[in-house]
Amino acid sequence: MSKITIAIDGYSSCGKSTLAKALASKLGYAYVDSGAMYRCVTLYALRKGVIKDHSFQESDIVRLLDEIHLTFQFNPNTKSSETFLNGENVEKEIRQMIVSENVSKVSAIHDVRVKMIAIQRKLGKNKGIVMDGRDIGTNVFPFAELKLFMTADTDIRTQRRFDELSSKGQHISFNDVKSNLIYRDHEDTHRKENPLTQAEDAIVLDNSELTREQQLEFVMKLITDLTLSVN
Ligand code: DC
Repeated sequence: MSKITIAIDGYSSCGKSTLAKALASKLGYAYVDSGAMYRCVTLYALRKGVIKDHSFQESDIVRLLDEIHLTFQFNPNTKSSETFLNGENVEKEIRQMIVSENVSKVSAIHDVRVKMIAIQRKLGKNKGIVMDGRDIGTNVFPFAELKLFMTADTDIRTQRRFDELSSKGQHISFNDVKSNLIYRDHEDTHRKENPLTQAEDAIVLDNSELTREQQLEFVMKLITDLTLSVN
């Protein structure tokens, strides 16, 4: 079976990475969380004091880009790919609320997108990859053989994110998590460059009422049909 590219886009906390990881593991593909890259840039800018009280100068962030080196490593214990910023595993830190609050604005900066998209395309050049994000099917891999557009009810997404943060010891109220999701969805769909939109040839997956197993089964069936028709 020849390898394909799988692009998964959708709103915040829709379960994109959970599904992407499961698919990658089932298919023996690489998994890349493109949102983690934008989160790393944001974390680095926060650490450097370039973002203060949720505001920054774009030029200050752009100036930092050359100092940022991103790598990914598969962790066999957690069975998932982890993100490294200049050699440091930042998988936990990039999920902090302070990063979530600033990442949409940072990801809207032209030069930041140019750098991240170049890395993403390089990672995907040999196919056999599942990448999730906001512009993967529309912009990063417009020729991906399979494009999914994921969505789910806002309260269900909030609950999932709330549970995830709580399990990591981050105690943020349900309403604060919900406001952040709504805010990021608005920013991500309304920005000038590569906003989140559904690719014309994407298959919509609303997983509000679906278990992880049902989602995986649904997509594996799509892949089987697709590869049968291609091979
Ligand atoms: O998937 P995530 O929630 O970790 O992504 C964090 C932010 O990064 C998201 O709010 C928008 C931005 N992003 C983007 O602009 N393009 C992508 N391909 C992935 C994420």
